[in-house]
Parts: sequence; structure tokens; C-alpha cells
Amino acid sequence: MRVEELFIPHIQKFLKENYQKEIETFEFQQTRKEFSGDVTLVVFPLLRHIKTNPVILAESIGEHLKAHVNIVTGFNVIKGFLNLELSDDFYLNVLDNIFEDKTFGKQDQKAQKVMVEFSSPNTNKPLHLGHMRNITLGYAVAQILDFAGYEVFKTQIINDRGIHICKSMLAWEKFGHEETPESAKMKGDHLVGKYYVRFDIAYKKEIQELKDKGIPEDEAKAKAPILLEAQDMLKRWEAGDERVVALWQKMNKWVYEGFEKTYKRMGVNFDKNYYESDTYLLGKDIIKKGLEKGVFYRRPDNSVWIDLSDEGLDEKIVLRADGTAVYMTQDIGTAVKRVDDFGIDKMIYTVGNEQDYHFKVLFLILEKLGYEWAKDLYHLSYGMVDLPSGKMKSREGTVVDADDLMQDMMLTAKEISDEHGKIDSFDEDKKNELYNMIGLGALKYFILKVDPKKRIVFDPQESVDFQGNTGPFIQYTHARIQSILRQFDGDLSLKTEGYKLDEKERDLVKILDQFPDVVEQAAAQYSPAVLANYTYDLVKSFNSFYQNLSILGANTEQQKLFRVKLSASTARVIKTAFGLLGIEVPERM
Ligand code: ARG
Repeated sequence: MRVEELFIPHIQKFLKENYQKEIETFEFQQTRKEFSGDVTLVVFPLLRHIKTNPVILAESIGEHLKAHVNIVTGFNVIKGFLNLELSDDFYLNVLDNIFEDKTFGKQDQKAQKVMVEFSSPNTNKPLHLGHMRNITLGYAVAQILDFAGYEVFKTQIINDRGIHICKSMLAWEKFGHEETPESAKMKGDHLVGKYYVRFDIAYKKEIQELKDKGIPEDEAKAKAPILLEAQDMLKRWEAGDERVVALWQKMNKWVYEGFEKTYKRMGVNFDKNYYESDTYLLGKDIIKKGLEKGVFYRRPDNSVWIDLSDEGLDEKIVLRADGTAVYMTQDIGTAVKRVDDFGIDKMIYTVGNEQDYHFKVLFLILEKLGYEWAKDLYHLSYGMVDLPSGKMKSREGTVVDADDLMQDMMLTAKEISDEHGKIDSFDEDKKNELYNMIGLGALKYFILKVDPKKRIVFDPQESVDFQGNTGPFIQYTHARIQSILRQFDGDLSLKTEGYKLDEKERDLVKILDQFPDVVEQAAAQYSPAVLANYTYDLVKSFNSFYQNLSILGANTEQQKLFRVKLSASTARVIKTAFGLLGIEVPERM
């Protein structure tokens, strides 16, 4: 229960008896740092109902609460703010409750189903830095919503068909000499990605040759033989050509095995995958029906479009002239199928902001098709990630590969940890596990602490710093607390009573107590950043407590017990919060 709820009945009674007013809602806030007190009642809103001087009203409510609520030990009034001071016993009790609540922060079930889509790669190349932001963000949002009481389904749409896939397939057929992940000693997704790049090289060469013959660039791009071949392959795929389908299955399987390893290392998973190859036909059907209803129209070349100029957007293609499906087609089918399959109340698409327009259009199309639930779709859009050396490009094969980046992060973490030299007793496996945890924690936290909309420049060195607003700093604080707990040999089941809190201790209890509200807020805003920055504030508050007061060397047993419980509760909230962000915390570091 939140402490305000203790006061409200008393205030209501007081206002009724003295002013004959029945008031439902009250505005409370944390007392601002510069004033003394713990909780503040904002009196101004009450003046709408009660015509009096705010200071006088605040004083009289304060007197009443002090007389009738035993945890209120004092108060002061600054203008229309009534700052209430709460007793030490109250905070001791708060801490005991936090300490004993093994799922502290977890919210009650909300009876609402939310589907969170993230990652959703194409099967023509490996995952890259942009996916890492996507996956980190989407996974954290899913975890936060789950903890906030929603029933959550993590999903992907795997864009496993289309012209880009045919490009890798064709290049492998032409230049691959039957190469396999085993023969090449490569992860399957990397191997397929190699042929995607290989296609591009051949394509560019052909364009140049055509241009040298005097053919204009646009025409050369459209007529390059290898591109025509890829287009033909797509048609054969859609027609179910056995050889093409078999090749497609073989190469996609390689890719999935590769993705699986990457997801595993990143520590993420999915409840259900959707495949474009399963949903694009449904998309086509829906478009056919929409065409009959007049939602779409057909152009003379046979392609199908929607005109969204009334909504301030333009016209958008939903089926090509040759009848093949486009990216939008499958998204229509996928959305309908997901709602059918799961009866979800809300769906969140974690997709980069270069697709803002696509999602506007998708949601509008679904609305125009008459789907009630179209209004419950949300595009969780995020900005680009750069490395300090420059923008990442996906077409030219100069991407920052996700697997390489994780490996680099691990090595960077190793350098820094070895300098610290606190884990000499670890064997090699344990060390590597720790480096991985730190490296990934650094990367994920760096991404999550900022607003998703912001573009970020990922700086590996800065992210892994053991000081400052970084993942490793927070992980380190967790490990430091664990080391204190290992040294404590008292009985933590005892209650702390009659103990007088230091200001640092009180501040820390207050921050811990905010955790459930922070979870709600992060869930409502789909914002892991809210949770990340809360965790950082918590850790700063803990460190200030830790540097000023001795825990194991406390003056009395009571004091020691309280401080150890406070530390243990802090460690648990760090671990829970980081768990929601998809970041592990070590016991030693
Ligand atoms: N596969 C797409 C890409 O790599 C992203 C898919 C996003 N999700 C969606 N429902 N369209 O660009």
C-alpha cells in the first residue's frame, strides 16, 4: 500500500467535518530535496472546492494528521505545500516489507494480452548493430510489461521470402560451388550474407558494363541480367517450383541456425515466430476483399494501390503489377493472423524509425479495412545506432556484425576487468562468462539508458567504464553488495525495531520504495530508459550510503542488521531491474 492511502481517509474526514466538502482525489508527491519532510500534499487543487487561504488550510490538515496518524511525526508548510515528516518506525517497516517480498515490484495480473514484436530479420544476411538495438529494446519492453502484469507474447515476423532472399540464393547457385557452413567453417547466416554481398558485386559489374555500352543508368539498373534472373526466381518461388523451394529451405535453415546462436548469446528468446512465407497469401486474400470493398484500387498496369491522400499521406502499392506481394502485403496478413491466434489487446512493433511511414500506412490500411483493433497497434520506433567511426551501411557489406560486436565487447570487458584484478581466483570458464556478462551489459545498458527515439553513437570504451552511468558500474555495485552479504553471519530474519535512521539510509529506503511505481511508469511509456535511470539513481544512493556509513562495522547489532537488510534489498532491486532490462549481474566482479 502506498503511504498516501493511509492519509486520505483522515483528510477526507477532516474536510467533511470542517468544510462540508467530499473530495475524492488528492495530489501527493515526494517532498523536494530542499525541504524537510518525506511526503507532500499539494494543497492548491483543494482550493477549487474550498475557498480559503492555502497556508491556513495546509496547517490545519497538518495538525489533524499529526494528531491522528501515528507515523506522522511533524510537518511544515511552504506556500500551498504540506510537507509531512514520517517516523523512523514507518521506514523500518517499509524496508522490512521490501526485504521480505521476494517478488518486490511485480504488479498484479492485468488481464490484458500484449504482443511485442522485435528483431524480425530478413533471412539474407546476419544480424547487425541496428538489430542489437532493436532486440535489446524490444526484449526489455516485453519483460517490463510482463512484470507489470500483462500477459506478454514475444514474437518476430521473419521476412523469409522476397527478392532480397532470391539474390543470396542466386549468387550461391552461381558462385557458391556447393559451399556449406561446415565446409566454409562459417555460421550459416554469415555464409548466406556473404552471397548477398556477392550478388551485389556481380550486379554492380553488370550495370557498369551496360553503362559502358551507352545504356542510361536507370535502365541498366532495371535490366541487368542477374537482377532479371533474381526476379524470375522469385516468380518461380511463388509458383512453388520445387528446386527453388528446396534451395530456399536449405539456405534459410542455415540462417536460422546462425540467428539462434546470436539470440542465445544475447540472452533473448521468442514465444512464437511468424514467417512471411506463411502470411503473405493471407495478406493477398485480404487485399482482394478490400479491393471489392473499394478500400484499394487497381491501376491499368494491374498493380493494386491505396490512396491515402485524404490523410495527408500519398498513394501506396500493396500488390505489384505481376501480382507478387510486397512488404506491406505480408504485414497486413501477419497482423490479422496474430490477432486471430492470440486474441491480443495490444501489439507493439519494435522497428527502426526509417519505417515510421510504413507503419503509419499499415495501421491506416487496417483501420480502413474495418479492423477494430487497428487502434491498438503501436510502433515502438527507435533511432539509428552509429559507431564513432561512422554510419553503418547494410547494403555494401560493411555492417557492424552483431556476433563480432559481442565478441569485441567481451574482449574490451576482459581488458578492463583484468586491470581491476579482483577475479584472479576464477578459472577460465568463469572468467569468460563474466567478461561476456560485462561486455553485453555494457552494450545493452548504453542502448537502454537513452530515449529510443534518439540516435546514438555507441562508444564501446565509454560503455564499459566501471564508473559513471554504465552497465558495468551497476553490475559492480551488485557484486560489491554480494561480497558484504557473504561476510555477514547474523540472522536476517530478525525484525529491526526502535532504530534511528541516518539521512542516507532514509534516502535509500525511499528510492527502493519507488521501484513498483517506476515499473508501472516504464510499462506505461514502453520505456526501459525510465527503469535504467532509476537503477542508476538507486546505485548512486547506495554508494553514497556505503561510502559514509560502515555496514559490517556498524556500532550496534541493530544497526548492522538494518544496514545489511538495506544492502540486500538494494542488491535485489538492482538484480530485478537489470533482469527486466535483459542484463545479468555477477556475484563477484
Ligand atoms: N524484416 C524487416 C527489415 O529487416 C523488419 C520487419 C519489421 N516488422 C514488421 N512487422 N514489418 O527491415
